[in-house]
Amino acid sequence: MAYKLLLLSFVPFLTSTVMASPLPNKLQEQLENPAVVKFREYLRIDTSPSENLQEAVEFWRRQAADSGLDFAVYSPAGKPICVLTRVGADPTLPSIMLNSHMDVVAAVPIAWTYPPYEAQVDNDGNIYGRGAQDTKDVAIQYLEAVRRIIAQNVTLQRTVHITLMPDEETGGFEGIRPFIKTPEFKALNIGFALDEGLANPTDDLYATYQDRRAWSIQITVKGKSGHGSSMPADIAIKKLQRLINVMMRYRKPLEKALISVPSIRNGFYTTLNLNMINGGMAPNIIPETFTLVADMRLSPEENATEILSLVNSWGAFAGNGTTVDFLRREMESLATPIDETNPYWVTINETITHMGYNLVPVVCPATSDMLHIRNIGIPAIGFAPKRRTTSRAHDIDEYLNIDIFLEGIDIYVSLITNLANLPEKKMDCTE
Ligand SMILES: *[C@@H]1O[C@H](CO)[C@@H](O)[C@H](O)[C@H]1NC(C)=O
Ligand SMILES: *[C@@H]1O[C@H](CO)[C@@H](O)[C@H](O)[C@H]1NC(C)=O
Ligand SMILES: *[C@@H]1O[C@H](CO)[C@@H](O)[C@H](O)[C@H]1NC(C)=O
Ligand SMILES: *[C@@H]1O[C@H](CO)[C@@H](O)[C@H](O)[C@H]1NC(C)=O
Repeated sequence: MAYKLLLLSFVPFLTSTVMASPLPNKLQEQLENPAVVKFREYLRIDTSPSENLQEAVEFWRRQAADSGLDFAVYSPAGKPICVLTRVGADPTLPSIMLNSHMDVVAAVPIAWTYPPYEAQVDNDGNIYGRGAQDTKDVAIQYLEAVRRIIAQNVTLQRTVHITLMPDEETGGFEGIRPFIKTPEFKALNIGFALDEGLANPTDDLYATYQDRRAWSIQITVKGKSGHGSSMPADIAIKKLQRLINVMMRYRKPLEKALISVPSIRNGFYTTLNLNMINGGMAPNIIPETFTLVADMRLSPEENATEILSLVNSWGAFAGNGTTVDFLRREMESLATPIDETNPYWVTINETITHMGYNLVPVVCPATSDMLHIRNIGIPAIGFAPKRRTTSRAHDIDEYLNIDIFLEGIDIYVSLITNLANLPEKKMDCTE
């Protein structure tokens, strides 16, 4: 606590010092790069409240116009989805989707070294802002890569769609989920999707081919209410205690299994956390209910039907009057093949490997919009060119280094060119 206060009290001092010293020449030049200018402009739009999404839509409308891309906005459930399109030489071929999301999670400005919506840059070229890693970076990288491909007169056989979702961070209920059910989505004729990926501190690049299934479990225990001076036997807190005990017993081996596993490989394991407890209204009233919310992520090996029985058994064990509800429960999360049966994967792996990087396929520990895309039979890989980068997604001081940002555009130029020039293969006929 004291440590935190000390840090906070130094914030104004740090900020003014950094601002006062001149930036290195190379960095000064990089900051004038139109890609960087756009990235910072996009970061300055605070898309954490959905009311501000419209500002992002206008930003993308301008980008499409500047870049000669077709532009459309769809609102299948109220919130806007932007699609920027470069029509391919053979538009009958299945298209390539380059997906990211406009929304960002909230930020508490006081905790940040630099304000979260100003896109300030430090002397090391780190660009600070909520969304710098998740996922305003990849959106601008896609755009700049496509612009560069067009400027170099490179022909793309397939149509490329840059798609921007409005609510990935809250589960896609007004974005990708309703969108994939519309005729407008079907008309995009998507053969393959790239989407957000994982940052990694080493030199390796990561590709996710499957997401864990996210469950948000809400369990309400019930007992006898009464005056705080009475002593009824059937009280809710006893049931909460039993519930916490049985869940924490289940959690113990899960925690143990992960001790020596780097977080980037967490996707292969099941996790469980008890994150919210609500109940009680006054010191002298015995509450009738307590509510517990747990966040569970199922590894690909986990049998969802069996886990469902297990969760219900926790409710039963807690005691009578207990109810189990799910705020979110993904029963299925299909994998995209990462072998020679998938020409898109082969192309990605070859492209990245030829550029001298090592590509490591993993299961995504979190859940993204790709889960829904894969579940309707469209292959999708989560990829982000963020090597030498510690993940700061959802964290304070989210930033991306300018060199890594610019390197990512080079990587996407090759990747998008090769994917969009892939001849039609059997894989495209799935669905
Ligand atoms: C692309 O094509 C245009 C028009 O034909 C030409 O003016 C331009 O120099 C070409 N650019 C490159 C990089 O080849
Ligand atoms: C999951 O478990 C249920 C119940 O034990 C079983 O009937 C089902 O076949 C299992 N599914 C898979 C994919 O193993
Ligand atoms: C639980 O069962 C006991 C014994 O049948 C009963 O007295 C009590 O009201 C029940 N509690 C709840 C919350 O249903
Ligand atoms: C990627 O390509 C390299 C080089 O061809 C190969 O050694 C590796 O097995 C491939 N990895 C996957 C996961 O396909």
